[in-house]
Amino acid sequence: MEIKTQVAIVGAGPSGLLLGHLLCAAGIGCIVVERQSPDHVLGRIRAGVLETVTTDLMRELGIDQRLNAEGMVEGGFNLATHDDVIRIDIEALTGRHVIVYGQTEITRDLMEAAPDRGLAVIYEAANVALHGIESRHPWVTYEKGGKVERIDAGFIVGCDGFHGAARRAIPAGAAREFERIYPFGWLGILADVPPCHPELIYANGDRGFALASMRSPTRSRYYIQVPLTDTLDDWPEERLWDELEMRFNPLSEHGVTRGPALEMSIAPLRSYVFETMRHGRLFLAGDAAHIVPPTGAKGLNLAASDVAYLSEALIGYFRTGDEVALDNYTPRALARIWKAERFSWFLTKLMHRFPEDGAFEHRMQTAELEYVASSRAMQTAIAENYVGLPL
Ligand code: APR
Ligand code: PHB
Repeated sequence: MEIKTQVAIVGAGPSGLLLGHLLCAAGIGCIVVERQSPDHVLGRIRAGVLETVTTDLMRELGIDQRLNAEGMVEGGFNLATHDDVIRIDIEALTGRHVIVYGQTEITRDLMEAAPDRGLAVIYEAANVALHGIESRHPWVTYEKGGKVERIDAGFIVGCDGFHGAARRAIPAGAAREFERIYPFGWLGILADVPPCHPELIYANGDRGFALASMRSPTRSRYYIQVPLTDTLDDWPEERLWDELEMRFNPLSEHGVTRGPALEMSIAPLRSYVFETMRHGRLFLAGDAAHIVPPTGAKGLNLAASDVAYLSEALIGYFRTGDEVALDNYTPRALARIWKAERFSWFLTKLMHRFPEDGAFEHRMQTAELEYVASSRAMQTAIAENYVGLPL
């Protein structure tokens, strides 16, 4: 079967679904093709902090009922050393706040709203391939139910994450890559236990980095820094809870409560930027074009700003034929991306123990944390990045 649409979107993660809804709401025809099943997409546990850029888009779409009911408004967060807690009062320093709400829940809300709003999402589409992106008539093919299907589109948008097909369709000579791989991973645990503290705590102690986060007043999310050689076999649940108690019992209001793990996983940390977000009739958005380390939870929020810029440009193009905004998408998105990359890298450097660091680097880190503790200017710089830089 051959289908025609204005925009073909590859990937139904948060980037693809948000873009699809925004285009659909503006009356632009679009179809989303996703390799996995809905359950598989929702099985990925992601970070949990939303900037206004993300919550504003959900409000604009009117897909914010659950976010309003269940999202936790956080006016501050904490940076801790082994014995000192520095509270970053984001509300006092910026007049804004963040919302703690699972990024996976954003995907669920967008997924559930799709049928009612006429957003077509084709799940379990195998071997998605992009064609003719340098022509004015690109198309996407995929296989489903033993048949090859084809979607002809005005534009293709790659929202297919870091391992997707879209970025690889751009010739190497047309782009430039920037990458930093960090020498550790994050071991995470999700459990139905009350959080140890009312606000997030990012801790840099003698035993390395640890983060106490949450999803709700009864669901906690914790992480610790682990060597890249560690696997889940090295971390029986009780060992991780022992470690978390050691880190957070001295720093937190309630101390760590143990409970059975709903999920445990180890994720590597990477900074990555692919410098061009447009090639011909193909655009990239979200993790397809960039990765941040999770320190600061910028992944989804950056995807949301990409999609805000791109939807505006595409809607403008379909209404007035204006190509300029399409041309401006790459520089406009990259300007915000690099600042979020900088902040995520800075917070990662500040809060982790790097195996290659010697005594000098360690003193530098201590001095920097002491400076943060004593300087309102420094705290403001951290707070304004944490709540999200303006669009
Ligand atoms: N064909 C079709 N779909 C694909 C393909 C492919 N070849 N490759 C990947 N996908 C799908 C994946 O299965 C996934 O559902 O694309 C989607 C990409 O989703 P994400 O990886 O979540 O990327 P993105 O939507 O850009 O999310 C941005 O949100 O929650 C955060 O941490 C997350 O930083 C990430 C951010
Ligand atoms: C999370 O809750 O999973 C989380 C929160 C903040 C981060 C990263 C992850 O910086």
